[in-house]
Amino acid sequence: MSASESDSTRRRRARKAGASGMPGSGDATVGDAGLLRGRFVGGVHPALDRINRSFSVDRRMWREDIAGSTAHARMLGEQGILPAKAVRRIHKGLAQVAREFEAGTFVDHPEDEDIHMAVERRLTELIGEDGKRLHAGRSRNDQVATDMALYLHGARERLTRKVVDVQVALVALAARDGELVLPYYTHLQRAQPVLLGHVLLAWVEMLEDDRAGLAGPAGRDLCPLGAGAGTGTTFPLDRRATARELGFAGPTRNSLASVSSRREVTMAAATMATTATTLSRLGADLVLWCSREFGFARLGDAVSTGSSIMPQKRNPDGAELLRAKAVVVSSSLSRLLELQRGLPLGYSKDLQEDKPALFEAEDTLMDMLDVARAMLEDVSFDGAAMSAAVEDPRGYLLATEAADFLVRRGVSFREAHEAVGALVSAAEARGVGLADLPDEVLTAAHARFDGTLREVLTTGAALSARSIVGGTAPTAVRRELAAWKRRLGR
Ligand code: ARG
Repeated sequence: MSASESDSTRRRRARKAGASGMPGSGDATVGDAGLLRGRFVGGVHPALDRINRSFSVDRRMWREDIAGSTAHARMLGEQGILPAKAVRRIHKGLAQVAREFEAGTFVDHPEDEDIHMAVERRLTELIGEDGKRLHAGRSRNDQVATDMALYLHGARERLTRKVVDVQVALVALAARDGELVLPYYTHLQRAQPVLLGHVLLAWVEMLEDDRAGLAGPAGRDLCPLGAGAGTGTTFPLDRRATARELGFAGPTRNSLASVSSRREVTMAAATMATTATTLSRLGADLVLWCSREFGFARLGDAVSTGSSIMPQKRNPDGAELLRAKAVVVSSSLSRLLELQRGLPLGYSKDLQEDKPALFEAEDTLMDMLDVARAMLEDVSFDGAAMSAAVEDPRGYLLATEAADFLVRRGVSFREAHEAVGALVSAAEARGVGLADLPDEVLTAAHARFDGTLREVLTTGAALSARSIVGGTAPTAVRRELAAWKRRLGR
């Protein structure tokens, strides 16, 4: 190569020769000086190509990419930037590309670095020169931000629908077995009696908060298309029209923020993480309940697994994996935050890594929701085991009732707490329940105690006394159950 040879001569010669070697590298390069390589000599290093290429990951956004291009092309036509004939051809071509993706017949090409390049490359193959006109006034920076925003619409909808499925399964269980009584645990120690319906509806309510988070910021959802590389564009684009066509509330206000921000992706991942965390706790409870030690629940065959050595085992792997997979989802959130930490304002290729993180969170959570639903649709409860745990006289689940009894007789709660503490240790020493203590032990613990205390020391009394809003009384739980049935349309 002569020193006087111009850059363009070198480029032309390299392109003619096809793939060329990279100086100082033994590896053959990938491709020729392709679509974006007008200023380079030869192809790209294969290792760089491997980490740069994102098509295998972002091809799942083909619908969004084609929808964005369709809207962009229509608007270019309406603004007189492209002739109507070109727009018609582009629309026809894009529809054909969509059919190929839909049918699974789309054939990859080495030039398909990402979904945007792939669609444009195939479009141009199909319709020729007009395909090359589509990218006017646009950059992959605003394109990918638009694709992701559109993708989030769909993902949020898919996920919220599945959360509702889990809620519906929980409500069905509450309707079936909600009046069973079990211990409520704090610190995993038996604390107070509670209705199973109250427990199940607690999960429904926690999932409702997750669902609302997943549904996202309604009405504040803006379209980045038209932000260009990050400074806008010289063409008179009608950003309101493309935003409207794509279902956004309007265009974003600042083009630089539009291509730099991954806030919505991050917030979506955050709500996926909280949802997965809720499911992990549901899974953890199921694991405990299915143990022989608790014996409260039994999972059906389809949602239980065996052991490779112990023939008797009925393992709750699904529930265990709800615990474990929550880590996969929450680590996606960490990845997204870490990707953006300290990143200079503007588009950087780092941001391409938002997609594997988001998609992994979504896919994992979708599976988790399916598993949770399947387990809840195939679980049975052992009311006798639950009730035995509640009625175990040495569990002292009704100690709070004794304290409240004194408070109703004018004693301060702190004084009552201490008196009942003495009562519990007296009962413990005798190995009996509170209601089994003789009257003189009661009055020794506090002068305001008498035999009528035993009337409040029953599980039924403790439950029905909690008819307050949000309480576990059967009347309150039935009210809540009816409200959830209405709300979920069951
Ligand atoms: N595949 C890229 C991504 O997902 C698209 C944007 C590329 N923009 C660029 N200027 N290289 O982030």
